[in-house]
Amino acid sequence: MLREAFPCLHQQVNGKDLVYFDNAATAMRPQVVIDAVNDYYCHNNANIHRGVHCLSGRATDLYEQARGSLARLINAPSPDNLIFVRGCTEGVNLVAQTFVRERLQPGDEILISHLEHHSNIVPWQILCQQTGARLKVIPMNERGELVLDQLDELMTERTKFMSVIHVSNALGTINPVKELVAKAHAKDIPVMVDGAQATPHLKVDVQDIGCDFYTVSGHKMYGPTGSGVLYGKATHLESMPPYHGGGEMISKVTFEETVYNKVPAKFEAGTPNIAGGIGLGAAAEFILDVGIEAIAEREDVLKLYTEQALKTVKGLRILGEAAHKSPVFSFLIDGIHPHDIGTIIDHHGVAIRTGHHCTMPIFQFFDVPGSCRASLAFYNTEQEVDILVESLNQAKAMFS
Ligand code: ALA
Repeated sequence: MLREAFPCLHQQVNGKDLVYFDNAATAMRPQVVIDAVNDYYCHNNANIHRGVHCLSGRATDLYEQARGSLARLINAPSPDNLIFVRGCTEGVNLVAQTFVRERLQPGDEILISHLEHHSNIVPWQILCQQTGARLKVIPMNERGELVLDQLDELMTERTKFMSVIHVSNALGTINPVKELVAKAHAKDIPVMVDGAQATPHLKVDVQDIGCDFYTVSGHKMYGPTGSGVLYGKATHLESMPPYHGGGEMISKVTFEETVYNKVPAKFEAGTPNIAGGIGLGAAAEFILDVGIEAIAEREDVLKLYTEQALKTVKGLRILGEAAHKSPVFSFLIDGIHPHDIGTIIDHHGVAIRTGHHCTMPIFQFFDVPGSCRASLAFYNTEQEVDILVESLNQAKAMFS
């Protein structure tokens, strides 16, 4: 049983069996990921790409094998298309400050969507302040789906870049990223896709999507925190300036000038999160072994069950009911503040997130300050959903 592979699931909190429904904030890690990190520190601890000694060779091999595993997971043409980063946030900032910044003139436009996480809004606002460019937003509807009939007008000759989320962390909406990329490319607009919530749930194929850049967050896909990769098309990565200067991203330094290292090292200044990268590789291998199709199939069953179950709670309103969505449920209960619900059901061992989920504009759209969010993963069970519903009904009873 795959659930057994995740040690942190098997505990009691507040005297009750833990029900972990905060997977969109961070997923649990399987033992193989924990072991990979532990083995690096216990047996192979050394810096990478620098040493001639045995441990450094082993650590380098493990790190580069991890890059290969990530490339297989998202079907990148080569491991060299992948840059290790701290997570999606760093991936977006990197692309904004390198590839996009040098393309912008005052009055140019960057297109994002209403469904973005703050990490795919704020870096673009900073870039707009630096360059005089403007941010434009693809709208959403009441179901939490993007409204694409205005896309042609939104993509003007001033649009220099588009960055869109693949799967909404707040509502679960799965965006039609392949279609969005095709429309943007027809107007020569390069596209970045924020895949933080996609790789744990969906088959991601960057070549099929056709995007120019794709970000992956390690801790959302059962890997270590502070780990992730940025995929970029080779021609872009070759032509982009570096992001951070420092060791390892150079091939020659004099006081007069520096010759940069080849891609991807050009973007990996300083000693990286070696253990995190190795752990992330183990997470990619875990998903490849289990099979993303099997994960998606199980999550579809859980999603339908959860939707039906939540709808039995009187006064509960689900925000975001897109036709295509992952098992994420944002909801409100009449007359009870989301933080109160979250606190009360924690006493039943149920962990959900409450608040704005780093997506304030979504909640401005719905004209509420935030929501309760239950975000599921394939290792969750129908029994846990029943416990959630029971605890929500008890919270309601306390307030009635
Ligand atoms: N972005 C994370 C979430 O959705 C933290 O909760």
